[in-house]
Amino acid sequence: MNNNDLNIVVLGASGDLARKKIFPSLFSLFCQGFLPKNSKFFGFSRSKYSHEEFREKITADLTCRYTPGESCAENMQNFLDCCFYQNGNYDSSDAFLNLYELMSEKSNVSKASRLFYYAIPPSLFGVVAKSIGDSGLVLCGSCGEQWSRTVIEKPFGRDRASSDRLTEELSAVFIEEQIYRIDHYLGKEMVQNIQVTRFANEIFKPLWRAQHIARVDIVWGEDIGVEGRGGYFDDYGIIRDVVQNHLLQILALVAMDEPASLAANHIRDQKVKLLRSIKVLTPEDVVIGQYSAGVLNGRKVEAYRDDPTVADDSLTPTFTKVQLTIDNDRWRGVPFTISAGKGVAEKLSEIRIKFHASDSNIFCSTGACPPPNELIIRIQPNEGIHLNIVNKKPGVKMDFHTEKLDLSYNKAYKENIIPDAYESLILDVIREEKALFIRKDELEAAWDIFTPVLHYLEENKVEPKMYPFGTNGMM
Ligand SMILES: NC(=O)c1ccc[n+]([C@@H]2O[C@H](COP(=O)([O-])OP(=O)(O)OC[C@H]3O[C@@H](n4cnc5c(N)ncnc54)[C@H](OP(=O)(O)O)[C@@H]3O)[C@@H](O)[C@H]2O)c1
Repeated sequence: MNNNDLNIVVLGASGDLARKKIFPSLFSLFCQGFLPKNSKFFGFSRSKYSHEEFREKITADLTCRYTPGESCAENMQNFLDCCFYQNGNYDSSDAFLNLYELMSEKSNVSKASRLFYYAIPPSLFGVVAKSIGDSGLVLCGSCGEQWSRTVIEKPFGRDRASSDRLTEELSAVFIEEQIYRIDHYLGKEMVQNIQVTRFANEIFKPLWRAQHIARVDIVWGEDIGVEGRGGYFDDYGIIRDVVQNHLLQILALVAMDEPASLAANHIRDQKVKLLRSIKVLTPEDVVIGQYSAGVLNGRKVEAYRDDPTVADDSLTPTFTKVQLTIDNDRWRGVPFTISAGKGVAEKLSEIRIKFHASDSNIFCSTGACPPPNELIIRIQPNEGIHLNIVNKKPGVKMDFHTEKLDLSYNKAYKENIIPDAYESLILDVIREEKALFIRKDELEAAWDIFTPVLHYLEENKVEPKMYPFGTNGMM
C-alpha cells in the first residue's frame, strides 16, 4: 500500500466549515506529521480565487498550537505551499476535469489516493457525487495502492425517505465502504471516552443495567440563539440539528452492549442493535419549545421569530425534551431523556447517569436515606468525569452528604492538548478507521425513531411552548 501520496479535495472550500474547521485540522495534522509525506490539498468551489488568494483566505484560521515557537511560520509556509485552488460549478464534469489537470500538475496523481471532503450544503451532495463520478475521478475503494474515500457531514436528509434518496445518489458513485458520514460529535474527546469508561473499568460493567441505573439524561445547551444565521436552522429545527444525530449517537454509546472487539463493525453492529430496540417516538414522548425575547448576562436578545433570517410565524423548535424507551432486557423500565436547547442559560453538554437509591439502606435508620449516586460525563465545556458519592461529614455525628469525585480534565491533563473533533475524524478517514462514522443501517435506524414524530409536528403545525431566552428552557 502506498502511504506516501494523498490528494485531499475540499469541496465548498470558500465556505465556513472549510475555513474554520477543515483546513485548520489539516494543518494541525500536517504539523504533527500525521499526514502522508506527499499530501496535497485542493480547494474547490464556485468563487474565483488565485492559489495565492485562497491561501490568504485560509491562513487567518490556522493555528500553531501543536508547534508553538519558531517552527510555526515555517510549518505554515510548508503547508500553504501544498494548498491549491480550482474554481468551477458543482454540476460540471468539465470543472472536475480541470481539477484533475491541476492535481496532475501539482501531485503524483497516478499514485495518490483521493479524499473528497464535502463542505457544501447537503442539497449539492448528489450533484457533486455525479460530477466526480462522470469525470472519472473516483478510484475504487481500496484497489492496490490507491483508494478514494468521500466524507459527508450531517444533515443526512430530513427524514427516512430523503435520507434514503441521498444514500442512493451517493451509492451510484461510491460504495458504502468509501462513504464516511461524519458526526463531528463522535470525534469529541469525551464522547470517544465513553467506551473506555464503560468497558475498560470492570467496576461499571455489572452496574450498567436497569437493576442499578434509575435514569439517564443527556443534556445539550447553547447560550446563543441563531443570531442572524437562522436560514439553515429554521428549515431543520433542534431535533434534526442535534438530537437525531449527535445526541442519539451518544445515547447509543452509553446504552449499547459490549462489542465483541474494538473493530469498527463490531461497535457499529452494537449501536444498530441498540437503536433498533428504541421504541419509535410518539407525540407524547416529545416536548418542543422556542425562545422568546430575553436577557442573558445583561445582553438583550430578540425572540427567535424576530430574527431577520427567521419567518415571523415560524414553528421551528429551538428546544426539545425527548423521552426514549429502550425495549431490551438491559434497559427495560429505565427512562432515557435527551434535552437540547438553543438560547438557554449556559453552554453545556453532558450525560447524567443516576443510580438507584434504596429505602432499605441501613443508613435510612439515621432519619434520611442516602441520596442516589450519580455519574456525570461532561462533554463540554470543561471536559471531565464526576462521580457523586455519599460521604460522612467529618465530626462526631453520623452526618452524610454528597461529595464529588472529580476528574476534571483541566486539572488532570494540564499538559495535554485536547484535539479538535475534526482532527481525530479526518485522521480516522485516512487510516480507514470507521468506528466513529455512521453506517447506512445506523442512519436508517436513527431516522426510523424520529421520522413519524417529525412528520406529526409539521403536518399538525404544533405550536412550540415559549421560554424566555437565557432561561433553562423546559429542562
Ligand atoms: N459551518 C460549520 O461549522 C458546520 C458544522 C457542522 C456541519 N456543517 C455542514 O457542513 C456543510 C458546509 O457548511 P458551511 O457552513 O461551510 O456551508 P456554506 O458556507 O453555506 O457553504 C459552503 C460553500 O458551498 C457553496 N454554496 C453554498 N450554497 C450554495 C448553493 N445554494 N449552491 C451552490 N453552492 C453553494 C459556497 O461556495 P461557492 O459559492 O464558492 O461555490 C459556500 O462557500 C453543510 O452541509 C453544513 O450543514 C457545517
